[in-house]
Amino acid sequence: MQASSQLPKVLVVDDEETMRFTLKTFLCEAGFDVAVAPDGASAGIAFGENDFQVALVDRILARGEDGVDVIKRLKHANPFCETILLTAHPTFESAATTLKTGAFDYLVKPVTRDMVCTAVQEAAQAAGRKRSERTGLSLFQSIAQTAPIPIAVFNAEGAMELSNAAFYRAYGLDSTHFFDAGDGFVDEADIEKNRAEFQALLSGDATEFQRETRRLTRDGGTHKVMQHMFACGSAAALPLKHIVVMDQDITDIRNLQNRLLHADRLTTLGKISGSLLHEIKNSLQAVAGYAELALVKEQVKNSAEPEMRKIIGAANGVDEMCNVLKNMIRRDDITFSSVDPCDVIEKAIAILSKAGALRNMCIHRRYSGQKVLIHGNVLLLQQIFINLIINAAHAMENIQNKSLYVGRASDSTKNAASLFVRDTGCGIPKELRSKIFEPFYSTYLHKGGTGLGLSIVRQIVELHKGTISVASVVGRGSMFTVTLPLSDHADNPSA
Ligand SMILES: Nc1ncnc2c1ncn2[C@@H]1O[C@H](COP(=O)(O)OP(=O)(O)OP(=O)(O)O)[C@@H](O)[C@H]1O
Ligand SMILES: [Mg+2]
Repeated sequence: MQASSQLPKVLVVDDEETMRFTLKTFLCEAGFDVAVAPDGASAGIAFGENDFQVALVDRILARGEDGVDVIKRLKHANPFCETILLTAHPTFESAATTLKTGAFDYLVKPVTRDMVCTAVQEAAQAAGRKRSERTGLSLFQSIAQTAPIPIAVFNAEGAMELSNAAFYRAYGLDSTHFFDAGDGFVDEADIEKNRAEFQALLSGDATEFQRETRRLTRDGGTHKVMQHMFACGSAAALPLKHIVVMDQDITDIRNLQNRLLHADRLTTLGKISGSLLHEIKNSLQAVAGYAELALVKEQVKNSAEPEMRKIIGAANGVDEMCNVLKNMIRRDDITFSSVDPCDVIEKAIAILSKAGALRNMCIHRRYSGQKVLIHGNVLLLQQIFINLIINAAHAMENIQNKSLYVGRASDSTKNAASLFVRDTGCGIPKELRSKIFEPFYSTYLHKGGTGLGLSIVRQIVELHKGTISVASVVGRGSMFTVTLPLSDHADNPSA
């Protein structure tokens, strides 16, 4: 009996016991696993308990029950079961109604063994095909649905027939039409090109396209994507019916590349700025020199001495800035010496003030305790505070009360100095506080930020065996604290 469960299952629904017995015998002998039911209700119960491939239903059952209604209910309960209607009174109308319900076949009584067995055999084969197609289709649908990249499938008319969860997640769209809907997820400038590629794929002139483009999200954002577009099905099976579009999001890769290129341009600028500064200093020398010479002339001295002095003063100021820049780009071996960290902070403020970076800012100094020395490289330490103060200035750009607090914290210990830079700027959300030290993380990319400032600061701090931390309240400001070991307590990092 065990083997019988492997046989195709057939349900015979007939109110006449003789018919049930005859049909069951025919079909069992032909190798089917047969169950019987006298009416629609018991057929429904049997369907709930078994997975039938075929149901053979009499047209008119007891108490006027209509076999067509039974077929409808059975198909609803199991769409993968094929049904055959048996009738003693064939009419064109009942045949049409039966086929409309999706019944597989229609047999007229009296039926022979061969007629029944052949019809059931064919229906069982059709049911088997439906099941395997269903397995393939549902497997494909579940792969497409769960795939982590956006996928959309379009029919030959350009209507979207399938789009997966990643697609909706990425673009937040529920567009049902692709090419006619310019306000969909396709960049307007790209619609014509897409249409041409779509047609080329449909006509078989091309089998795939791959190119970089932009996608629009419903909230107005954009993604940079590598779009893969290909015709679904074999090239031999023309006309091709579906076009598949898959997107690979390359926004982060492209942004990173842009930042690397920007960083590279800055490095190049650093390399050539040595000779540029040389030229600028020569020109300044000429300006200040000629002004001095002019002052020797009595006429000029009498009529324009104040102006000449201003020219000389300005030229000297620019010359001083050039010296600062020259120092900053100098590629020395990193030498360490005893340095007062407060002097370093002051030097950083002086440089930035001259460069006009601290305009409209109220600077508060808080150097508590005795003078201390740390063991470090002056230029690198300067770079720490220049970066931190520039960041503070950026954070206060749109704020009325721009207050910058710098100094040495009172919690500095015997062994280390805690130096801080505090601003009254926009603050940093908690979830971003660990990210800001990562290279290339920046919220100022649009203003030329590279996102390298804090990662370099951290490297310099670590080189000095120190630590850096940040405390921040969104809307109130941020405080960066750099703790560096004092001279007597530092292992010599340069050693
Ligand atoms: N004081 C601050 N207040 C608010 N946000 C800050 C502050 N300092 C840093 N940040 C945030 O950390 C990010 C990273 O800073 P980082 O100095 O590394 O790069 P950047 O300033 O954006 O660019 P770069 O310094 O390379 O020009 C900033 O873009 C900003 O979002
Ligand atoms: Mg910065």
